[in-house]
Amino acid sequence: MLFADAKILALVGIVLIAILLRKYLQTQDPSLRFPVVGDAKTLDIRAALEEGNRKYPNSSWRLPLPDPIVIIPRWAAGEIKSLAENKISLNKEIFIRMLGRFTMLGEDDDEMVAVVKQDLTRALPNLFETIVDEVKFGLNNILRQGASKETEPQELSLYENMARVIALVSGRIFVGLPLSRDEHWIYSSITYTSEGVTVAESPVLRPYSPFVRWLISPFLSQVRSLRKHQAFIREKVKPLIADHLEKRQQGTTEKRDSSNGKFLDWLLARYKYEVDATRIARDYLLVAAGAIPIASGLLSQVLLELATRPQHAQTLRKELNDVIGKTGWKHAALAELQHLDSFLKETQRLNPHVLAMMPRRVMSPITLSNGETLQPGTSVAVSNHSINTSAELYPKPLEFQPDRFYELRRTCSAQDQRKYLFSNSTLEFMNFGYGTHTCPGRNFASDELKIIVAYLLSNYDFELVSKSKPDNWTLGIVQIPDPTAKLRFTKRAPIRELEI
Ligand code: HEM
Repeated sequence: MLFADAKILALVGIVLIAILLRKYLQTQDPSLRFPVVGDAKTLDIRAALEEGNRKYPNSSWRLPLPDPIVIIPRWAAGEIKSLAENKISLNKEIFIRMLGRFTMLGEDDDEMVAVVKQDLTRALPNLFETIVDEVKFGLNNILRQGASKETEPQELSLYENMARVIALVSGRIFVGLPLSRDEHWIYSSITYTSEGVTVAESPVLRPYSPFVRWLISPFLSQVRSLRKHQAFIREKVKPLIADHLEKRQQGTTEKRDSSNGKFLDWLLARYKYEVDATRIARDYLLVAAGAIPIASGLLSQVLLELATRPQHAQTLRKELNDVIGKTGWKHAALAELQHLDSFLKETQRLNPHVLAMMPRRVMSPITLSNGETLQPGTSVAVSNHSINTSAELYPKPLEFQPDRFYELRRTCSAQDQRKYLFSNSTLEFMNFGYGTHTCPGRNFASDELKIIVAYLLSNYDFELVSKSKPDNWTLGIVQIPDPTAKLRFTKRAPIRELEI
């Protein structure tokens, strides 16, 4: 009994020391020397970003989040954008902020990123038919269930249904049929990231030192749930890897249909050493974390914005009809949908997923051209919210102008044409990030979003269920559409061959 008490006392002592050590280390935080703007208690950082931008347009300041972030001026993004990982790191920042030891978010994933950036992007024209096929399946899956539904208006919770369509399309490309339509696979692909965020934000885990977290974590149901998803994905990819290796031995991998696991071929080819199912499963979860939640959020925002502008939906339908009449419904048509491209970009400008962009952890001292030195350990970001709402960059910045970027493209020089494209990233528009880590999946995202919106516009009229577009939810540096938002869909006569 005495021995057991001593053990408990020792454990409590260790925990106390770990807490005190963490408190001490917090006082050594290199970001503390920057001035603070904003209220530590609010989850909505937009007002702080506006005030900080006004007060310190050319120097850095600090957002008082539980893990403080130093906001550097926009021009400084140009100075850090191409620095090596040992100078400033995206992965390290995510790993620390998202408790990567438990969530895996932020683990190094060079091979997966290279596959998305190069192999997937290069293959997009060939993947058009596959994406179209899966979009039709996905939309049919959530709409028109039963004959009466064909004519009756149907109310849908937007985010969860769009996440399902995006997960189906992503899965079709990443793992192919039949696995991509397995309900458990879809569920794990969608929920892994949101459960990861819950773990990262957990009040019983986050405030403590790594040692205490390690002690507590086995008892947390959320951590155990993440482990279950990891184990499930690992078991599911094992036969895919075995199949791939067998085909490779027979020299038949190149004959694989793109809808059935080409992504895995690319991934395995990128590894210089033999990899196991654990590593591949991790890559799938990480690519799903990049591909599903943000694209589902933006798709929901686009539909909500469109539902409030039925007259503009008509402009987009006319464009679809004209372009398909001229080009046919193939990959090349997507580049011609310029009003739609502009609508996606304007939606993203006013409903960005990330309010403080380019989150990075400083790894070795960096001196900016204003003389400020960022010390190792500092977490930095750029105020994306201030860029998106800058009156200098975007006249009448808070006004939603569907054709804002369409007009900019129409009137700019030939060499600036690409600048205003939805998938392009610049110092003036960084909603896909900026620099070395600019989202590698943005061209894929652009294709899938355009295809989904095209089919919805073609086959449905849609309107808000609420009186106006529900306010976005802001949670620290992230912003999401109201997850309870609903749209009412009513079947209409489809445009040309765009029938689902
Ligand atoms: C509308 C949809 C999307 C948006 C708005 C978006 C946005 C972003 C942003 C802001 C970053 C961080 C960039 C930075 O810090 O500089 C990022 C990184 C990343 N995204 Fe996306 N993304 C989208 C869709 C996708 C898709 C569909 C995929 C996969 C097919 C993907 C894969 C990734 C990956 C792998 C990274 C990490 C890049 C790296 O580590 O260098 N994303 N994305």
